[in-house]
Amino acid sequence: MDSKELQPIKQRYGIVGNCEGLNHALDIALQVAKTDLSVLITGESGVGKEIIPRLIHDNSRRRMRKYFAINCGSIPEGTIDSELFGHEKGAFTGAIGEHEGYFGAASGGTLFLDEVGELPLSTQARLLRVLETGEYIRVGSSEVRKTDVRIVAATNLNIQNAIRDGKFREDLYFRLSTIPIKMPPLRERGEDIILLFKKFAMEIASKYQMPERITLTPEAAEVMKRYKWPGNIRQLKNVTEQLSILMRDTRVVTPEILSDYEIWPTIEEQGGLVRVGAHSSDAHTYQSEREMLFQMINALHREVSELKQQLAAGRADGVMSAEHSSTGGMTHLSPAVTVLPANTEARVVSVVPSDHNHQSQPDATPYAEEYVEESLSIEDQEKKLIIKALEKNRGRRKKAAEELHISERTLYRKIKEYGLDDF
Ligand SMILES: Nc1ncnc2c1ncn2[C@@H]1O[C@H](COP(=O)(O)OP(=O)(O)OP(=O)(O)O)[C@@H](O)[C@H]1O
Ligand SMILES: [Mg+2]
Repeated sequence: MDSKELQPIKQRYGIVGNCEGLNHALDIALQVAKTDLSVLITGESGVGKEIIPRLIHDNSRRRMRKYFAINCGSIPEGTIDSELFGHEKGAFTGAIGEHEGYFGAASGGTLFLDEVGELPLSTQARLLRVLETGEYIRVGSSEVRKTDVRIVAATNLNIQNAIRDGKFREDLYFRLSTIPIKMPPLRERGEDIILLFKKFAMEIASKYQMPERITLTPEAAEVMKRYKWPGNIRQLKNVTEQLSILMRDTRVVTPEILSDYEIWPTIEEQGGLVRVGAHSSDAHTYQSEREMLFQMINALHREVSELKQQLAAGRADGVMSAEHSSTGGMTHLSPAVTVLPANTEARVVSVVPSDHNHQSQPDATPYAEEYVEESLSIEDQEKKLIIKALEKNRGRRKKAAEELHISERTLYRKIKEYGLDDF
């Protein structure tokens, strides 16, 4: 599949970038979607691994069935087997009723096991059995059950090291990685770094109704492209948001501003800068920028439609449902999992860990987020950020400044400006 054919997919999922590594990963995902093979997505933290499983599900024959995204790292070790494989009534203290478990509930659909490297070894053995035979046993039962689940797993661990250290079963690794997909680190994505920066700068400007988005001088763009980005796209997004909120005298980012905001922290890191390879031509960049704008217009359009629906629903029952407005119709089954209705648009799904409860009803509302009217003023946002950092660091300004990626000098100035001397 050439890069042109991938454009509609990128638009649908809000994926920005044109580098070979990203296109290759998307291409494999689309090809493997048509099969039932297990997929293992690897890559450093923050590279965008969570985009792939939804894309696979939506393009598979299972697209009309359930899709479960489970964060294995956030389920307590003591309950993970019963969460995944279910339990019988009385299987353990507190097991008042029976519980189906995700392998049963997802039959016919897709199970995304995120942070699969965090699974305890005993659970890994159970998982291997399902992958090999499609069979599993509920906790406290001896009855063998069948399931038809497609597994997509992801990890940011170096699995070879985990295998060497006896933390991950080698046989499970081979079974899971029938098709491996590697998401490239941001430092290897060349011009995509700048495209992603533009996307995030536009998003934050529109979110907070800023008159102008931030832009990069050619020199600052060069610094961005050479930086190592240990936190990858997640870090780039944070940096862009921080600069968008904190820069007020100018909206043009220079290398000096970058160093003033201490976004490039240590000398060692600067020494370890990685030079990126060939850059795209101007025409190519223009094309991508236009595509990106198009994606953003689409996203805005979707948001407006959702908002209209929510308003209409609010009018109909006289109150805006906090759960509906915050989840857009998603069903929360347990603290570590979010189920999306079949065939919905892809979106970033947040996992809300909370106390585990086997009796929790699928549609119960403990995961509903509170609806809070948020101020859109940049000053308010900046002030809030500063208060948060000062509170977290119990008034220690040096630490707070470090966390905000601004110099202590800038923090002192802002504390004065906002009258926060009491902190
Ligand atoms: N190509 C992309 N275009 C636009 N946004 C992206 C892209 N890749 C990743 N992102 C965004 O970057 C952020 C991090 O991505 P994601 O959560 O998928 O990382 P991850 O690989 O799962 O990291 P971790 O291993 O730490 O869980 C998300 O907000 C995601 O939407
Ligand atoms: Mg992740």
